Amino acid sequence: MTRKILVTSALPYANGAIHLGHLVEYIQTDIWVRFQKMQPKEKVSECWYVCADDTHGTPIMLRAEKDGITPEALIARVHGEHSRDFAGFHVAFDNFYTTHSTETRDCANTIYARLQQAGLIEKRSIEQYYDPVRQMFLPDRFIKGECPKCGAKDQYGDNCESCGAAYTPNDLVEPYSAVSGAKPELRSSDHYFFKLSNPSCQSFLRRWTRENTRLQPEAANKMQEWLGFNEEDGGENKLTDWDISRDAPYFGFEIPDAPGKYFYVWLDAPIGYMGSFKNLCARESIDFDEYWQPDSKTELYHFIGKDILYFHALFWPAELEHAGYRTPTSIFAHGFLTVDGSKMSKSRGTFITAQSYLATGLNPEWLRYYYAAKLNSTMEDIDLNLEDFTARVNSDLIGKYVNIASRCAGFIGKKFDGRLCATDAPWLKPLRDASESIAKAYEDREFSRALREIMALADAANVVVNERKPWDLAKHEGREAELHAACSEAIEAFRLLTLYLKPVLPKLGEAVEAFLNIAPLCWSDAANALPAGHAINAYSHLMTRIDPKQIAALVDANKASLAPAEAAQPPADVPQQPEAARKHAEKQEKAAAVAVAQAGSEPHISIDDFMKVDLRVATIVDAGHVEGAEKLIRLALDIGEKTADGQAKTRQVFAGIKSAYDPAQLIGRKTVMVANLAPRKMKFGISEGMIIAASDMSGQTPGIYLLAPDSGALPGMRVK
Ligand code: MSP
Ligand code: ZN
Repeated sequence: MTRKILVTSALPYANGAIHLGHLVEYIQTDIWVRFQKMQPKEKVSECWYVCADDTHGTPIMLRAEKDGITPEALIARVHGEHSRDFAGFHVAFDNFYTTHSTETRDCANTIYARLQQAGLIEKRSIEQYYDPVRQMFLPDRFIKGECPKCGAKDQYGDNCESCGAAYTPNDLVEPYSAVSGAKPELRSSDHYFFKLSNPSCQSFLRRWTRENTRLQPEAANKMQEWLGFNEEDGGENKLTDWDISRDAPYFGFEIPDAPGKYFYVWLDAPIGYMGSFKNLCARESIDFDEYWQPDSKTELYHFIGKDILYFHALFWPAELEHAGYRTPTSIFAHGFLTVDGSKMSKSRGTFITAQSYLATGLNPEWLRYYYAAKLNSTMEDIDLNLEDFTARVNSDLIGKYVNIASRCAGFIGKKFDGRLCATDAPWLKPLRDASESIAKAYEDREFSRALREIMALADAANVVVNERKPWDLAKHEGREAELHAACSEAIEAFRLLTLYLKPVLPKLGEAVEAFLNIAPLCWSDAANALPAGHAINAYSHLMTRIDPKQIAALVDANKASLAPAEAAQPPADVPQQPEAARKHAEKQEKAAAVAVAQAGSEPHISIDDFMKVDLRVATIVDAGHVEGAEKLIRLALDIGEKTADGQAKTRQVFAGIKSAYDPAQLIGRKTVMVANLAPRKMKFGISEGMIIAASDMSGQTPGIYLLAPDSGALPGMRVK
């Protein structure tokens, strides 16, 4: 049976730049896919690689608002940036799409409808913090306040960065919304849940996660832990129902039968794999159903980081299974990138964006090689040690591999008219025979093993070249045949090494194909030597060494250029989850919350920012002194509001203008009020807004000056 394979990488969030951490995954997947595409058609007849931007959720909505653009404009811009970065590192998706697409919406609606039919969707009311000013429910990470334990200010809703205490947003002292600063209120609202606690889901997941090919051993163990013990063993199920809806305002897909309710971003994100593929199917006339029907003979692989395993190994297969689709053949999780042994850090300049790497003039294939040399099939973290990076690339790629061609090619051109002699010498047999074990290493995602094997073969080839010394042979009359054989065989060794390295170094591979004057290399080409008399082209230098100065420049560029908000990435406000998934959620929300908080310190605001302030013409219908208050006057303001039964309604506002105005002279005047300020409870009562006034106590005419509209303005008119 010939294989048909669909491969995905996780969908990057559409509000942050691609960085070297992300690239571990996209490079890993791309190498694997390129390897499959080099297989003969009888073995692998199709291999498709799809991805998309993950475009929905609260942080993307808020980020767009902060930038003063629509979410659609934000995700379009980022899609361009991401496409550029991936192309820059030779990550060759067959389709790089977006989750904000009709295909993804259709698939999400279908899956949701089928889960509903299966009785697996339930509506329940839950209590959640609400921002009365911004008029939205707040993910946990968007609530801040004082730590209940140590009193540190401005802590997030789940734990204190100062003393390390863990708690819930309810425990915070003086909680406030990180979006507006308002005091959040607990409100209840209907949410939709996917009933993962249902026995059929539980038993399916228990079985599925234990099946042979599905998960790496360490991932399978984690899942058993997260699932809890089997009820039959007297244990307890840990999997709880999954909240898959969010209330408006939200950037996402509205749930078909539930106006004002949206699919939570993590519901439609993996469905984006299907959406992207569906879009590709239309373009390439591929049979979508053949890949997604329950008894599909095709293979489906998801490459992901270990932080999002929970979503891919539990929620996603359960959704697919119960909606009548096939489930993934395997989920391949990788570890996290560290740079010089630590987490990527902006202050150290090791939070390196894809764009800055390319802009500094570093060769993307250096990084592809280094990552491949470190990657294996486990979930271990991988370290980019910048010194080792330089040494390794220079010694392996230049010193061992390119060196073979650069020492031998010239003689072929100069002395033999560019033509090779027969290249079937016995010493090349082990190089040819290695094709199978190298293929196995690639197939098993043991890239470091593949490269070790390839470099050992390069070492062996160099030993032969060093022994025969073509540069000496060339100086002696009558040794032309020896020289011709030595160089032709070395070129053949170089061709084989190029073939084996091509999944990792596709551009270098193309350059070598042009130099050798051959068709694009595929795996079966290992068996056939270049024929005697084959003409090659003139050699031109294939790859330069890394200069340590370039690395220093890269680190510098990332120290200087990175605005902190650039790292902002979206949420995953996922309550009740195991550690890893929760950590992921926290990480994302925190970055987003930081970005939103920083919005305040920027020199410009957008028109949208300004329009958030609801300014209204107000008539002061009553004014009076406040007993015991030094500065305050109590005002009753008419801004055209009515009670339910049509009576005029006024707002009470305490204004600090007693030093400048006598209450009696204020009655009847018109002024301007902020109508959507969060109500504030004061000692003397609730203040329901603010009037605005000019003041400059140190100027020539110190005092407070109330604003007044021109005559004709009526109470309630919007000021903008
Ligand atoms: N949008 C989600 C994935 C949805 S998939 C249906 C997401 N996006 S992400 O932009 O945060 O990450 C995209 C991928 O890059 C994830 O698989 C993540 O694990 C990986 N990485 C992000 N930072 C990484 C490192 N520092 N190191 C290695 N991989 C990293 O998660
Ligand atoms: Zn604390």
